[in-house]
Amino acid sequence: MKLLQNYPLQDITTFHAQVFAKYYTVFSSVDFLRKTLTSPELKGMPFIILGGGSNVLFTGDFNGVIIRNAMEGMEVKSQDENNIYIKANGGEKWHDFVLYCVNRNYGGIENLSLIPGTVGAGPIQNIGAYGVELKDVLFEVETMNVHTLEIRNFSNAECKFGYRESIFKKEEKGNYIILSVTFKLNKNPKPNVSYGSLSKELEAMGISNPSIKDVSNAVIKIRSSKLPDPDKLGNAGSFFKNPTIPNADFEKLKSEHPNIVSFPATEGYTKLAAGWLIEQCGWKGKRIGDAGVHKDQALVLVNYANATGKEIYELSTKIIESVKEKFGVELEREVNIF
Ligand code: EPU
Repeated sequence: MKLLQNYPLQDITTFHAQVFAKYYTVFSSVDFLRKTLTSPELKGMPFIILGGGSNVLFTGDFNGVIIRNAMEGMEVKSQDENNIYIKANGGEKWHDFVLYCVNRNYGGIENLSLIPGTVGAGPIQNIGAYGVELKDVLFEVETMNVHTLEIRNFSNAECKFGYRESIFKKEEKGNYIILSVTFKLNKNPKPNVSYGSLSKELEAMGISNPSIKDVSNAVIKIRSSKLPDPDKLGNAGSFFKNPTIPNADFEKLKSEHPNIVSFPATEGYTKLAAGWLIEQCGWKGKRIGDAGVHKDQALVLVNYANATGKEIYELSTKIIESVKEKFGVELEREVNIF
């Protein structure tokens, strides 16, 4: 095991904030991971498993070990007339996996094109975009229990998926490392173009009967136009979740703010576009030092160059406070804060 000390996290997290971890190591096999977790040097030390580093914000140095999953590769597990089951290792880049499937006409994840990060990070927050969530196509998750080192498979139901939620973020937080994910994809895909901006983009592209490649291309186009490229401008995608409120509260808000943007949610609730709420509070495009709110999508906080994690976090606190004051709605951070 190669253990690096005082390791800078700037280049392996997409916020690119300057922070250091006491130790850093990478695993590319299950055996290697077992050795790492049982090594005497790391005994009792807090650790964080990192994939693409695209949904985390470190507000200070981390006095523990960062363990990076670098297990790549994928394999077809089985197939029948309609479905194909593909297992992808946790360290595989998510978008590369999407393209692998789209190029073979295996449908189901094309709407999730261009999401940064790795396959192994996907189930933790049940990544979602343009009308599709990971839970819609996930068959099972292979994990290692960090305490017993046993391998355990979680079925889709056992993952307890919700909007940007799973068992791995809640009751089992920190107890399992995701090794691989098996997806159930469709060999006769039926594109899902129900999301407003996606159908509009396809229309603008002059496509009325889209293939999954067309859907993937349209999603790539929308994302590239609205969301900043983390290699050019540090960010972690949506910083907050879209909040869900009871219908009665929504009706009251709508009477005060007739243009409020909302989406249907589970029965009795309405989901609000947090980007709209933040924009209405005047934050869109605002900058405090090197921390800012993106000019095209207010849900995304950015690091212009040298913002610290703490400064970005403080900006997020100010945003939460002003949205609470104006709309009485409590925004919740979506990014994992350490
Ligand atoms: N809006 C504004 N101002 C803004 C941003 C958005 O008014 O600055 C309003 C617009 O009316 C827009 C609506 O909000 O039509 C929805 O915006 P958008 O389609 O960009 O989606 P979102 O709700 O802001 C969510 C996800 C994104 C995902 C998109 C598309 C969350 C927290 N975010 O954003 O996911 O790509 O939908 O499905 O659910 C991510 O999780 O990192 C992420 C980027």
